[in-house]
Amino acid sequence: MNGDERYAIPRLPALGFGGDWNPEQWEPSVWAEDLRLMVEAHVNLVTVGVFSWAFLEPAPGRYEFGWLDTVLDACLAAGVRVDLATATASPPPWLGHLWPESLPVTDQGVRLAYGARQQYCPSSPIYRDKALALADRISHRYADHDAVVMWHVGNEYGAHTPACWCDTSAEAFRDWLVKRYGSLDVLNDSWATAFWSQRFSDWAEVIPPRRTPYFPNPTQQLDFKRFSSDAMLDLFRAERDVIRGHSAPDKPITTNFMRFFPHADYWAWAAAEDLVSDDWYPDLADSSSHVEGAAGADLMRSLGDGRPWLLMEQAVSAINWRSVNPPKSGGEYRRWSLQQVARGADAVLHFQWRAAVGGAEKWHSAMLPHAGPRTRTWRSVVALGAELESLDSLAGARTHADVGIVLDWNSWWALELDSRPSTGLSLVSIIRQWYEPLWARGYAIDFVHPESDLSRYPLVLVPQLYLSTDAAAQSVIDAAAAGSTVVVGYFSGAVDESDHVRLGGYPAPWQDLLGLWVEEYRPLLPGQSVDLIAHEGTGLSGALKGREWTEHVHATDADVVLSYVGGDLDGAPAVTRRRLPGIGEGTAWYISVGLEAPDLGALLLDIGAASGALPILHTPPPTDVEVAVRETETERYLFLLNHGTTGQEVDISPPGPARRPSWRLLPSREQADGAVVVPAGDVVILVSNQERTSDS
Ligand code: GLA
Repeated sequence: MNGDERYAIPRLPALGFGGDWNPEQWEPSVWAEDLRLMVEAHVNLVTVGVFSWAFLEPAPGRYEFGWLDTVLDACLAAGVRVDLATATASPPPWLGHLWPESLPVTDQGVRLAYGARQQYCPSSPIYRDKALALADRISHRYADHDAVVMWHVGNEYGAHTPACWCDTSAEAFRDWLVKRYGSLDVLNDSWATAFWSQRFSDWAEVIPPRRTPYFPNPTQQLDFKRFSSDAMLDLFRAERDVIRGHSAPDKPITTNFMRFFPHADYWAWAAAEDLVSDDWYPDLADSSSHVEGAAGADLMRSLGDGRPWLLMEQAVSAINWRSVNPPKSGGEYRRWSLQQVARGADAVLHFQWRAAVGGAEKWHSAMLPHAGPRTRTWRSVVALGAELESLDSLAGARTHADVGIVLDWNSWWALELDSRPSTGLSLVSIIRQWYEPLWARGYAIDFVHPESDLSRYPLVLVPQLYLSTDAAAQSVIDAAAAGSTVVVGYFSGAVDESDHVRLGGYPAPWQDLLGLWVEEYRPLLPGQSVDLIAHEGTGLSGALKGREWTEHVHATDADVVLSYVGGDLDGAPAVTRRRLPGIGEGTAWYISVGLEAPDLGALLLDIGAASGALPILHTPPPTDVEVAVRETETERYLFLLNHGTTGQEVDISPPGPARRPSWRLLPSREQADGAVVVPAGDVVILVSNQERTSDS
């Protein structure tokens, strides 16, 4: 059987629906009921074996696959396809017992015990040998099994053990550094070891940043974060290559990501995967979780370069690991699931299929709750399964975005180290402040690596890029030269890839581009604010406040749009704009101050409107209504999601001079013209034959 490459999972020509199934936690007599109910719920994909190592290899080298043979054969017979795990996420007790050196060590030298999960040092040779041997056995045995349509390596790499500080890791770190720097002299320069008498005279002296009396060397910390991401990625690649040795290429290999996860450079990881997949557990205490839900989904689509991705895990209702864990309301479950589909997911999968009886996750919701099918949860699962089945023609659809937001893990790591002008700057919250107003206006938004071609976006946002390589700095300049509008946020371009200050005034790489230089960074104390005044039509007026951060900016060749008022910076530029000379060249903005959210939003929307970036709809959608579009060759799907508590009317006219698409409501296929009402908490999906609203 050969798969259809138009689909994210070529051997599953549909949107995926299902979840983690842990049959080993149940008597085999329960399995038949599981499969019967899966079929009833429209489940077509289950992830099997994520935590099954102790059942597949109960003692070192003694493998038992009989139960898994039965499970996979039963899945095939029931028409349920399988995302088969390599089962290496949680080693059995025997590994830590016989080889305690495989257990991870903290920066304070504490060796962690087995008894939870993910208790392995990423650089442990014995863990690696045993994990690869298991992955080899599993993928060899099941590569040609027709139930298996894809592979799931590990699980949430780094979720609990993102790094290890043991002696084996120290050795692996040194090997990584030798490859990166070649010589100790180069490392000494990069780590600025002339400072505090830190100069190394022998490679053996180089160690991970263990607990020290005061700030550890910042570049050592930065390199250790890079190394730790690479060490885990190396494990993923090794298992992937073992699978590739046995399996057909149309059975994609993935590992599940965790959205804006700080400990792994997902650009590098995504490039190593066949398919991006992700887990999302919104915080029900945060009334704006849906904004994070949108941004995380956009990140996943972007990591896969626009290809559809899989929502590998979400909870149907409550989780069990925050301090208080309320259930989702029925509306949230459907709406948030469809939100992920609207933003590029071609599968909605869950942790987990059947609620557990024992163990640490017995109070985590599941598709099939403890009370069984006579429940609200079950009914909402079956309904969503049916709805996704009716949307199968959407599979493979893509989203074209006019807005690109620059995101780089190296810069994120460096920004949030200790010993900075402010430890109050959080990359995710800055990105969120920039993302939200454009999302609310209904722009399609990509995240983008700074060294990629940014000029494909009319609007390029650089909210925070504290660390920039030379290539990244040039890429921002090139985008503006090619006609993009580029907006750079404060404390960007400050250091190079070694976390060394770029001298000669900040942000050194972009002084010409922005037409300014910065004399001094001036973070504000908590609660402190500065006054600002708007100079010309920017969408801003009246008394504005700046918080968190200010800078002493000198404009050399830029229009001053906002200035500081009073204090040391009285009259100095706070926000500037430079129109690049020459036809077809773009505009470069600099925002040196922490604006309040509504002001930042108004400014970014104004800049966006002038940039030529087109939102999805001509008229701004009502508050709390999210808009998203996906397109196949033949059809265009418009999603309207009402996250609010009152019904809203949405004008669905396209922006610009494009012809009005002829929209039909799903599932009725009734014609919809002009405006559509979206009830509170509801989702409306429309389809039209493909007629692009822009010539993009
Ligand atoms: C993560 C894990 C799952 C499960 C869920 C619970 O996503 O991958 O195994 O523990 O959390 O929310």
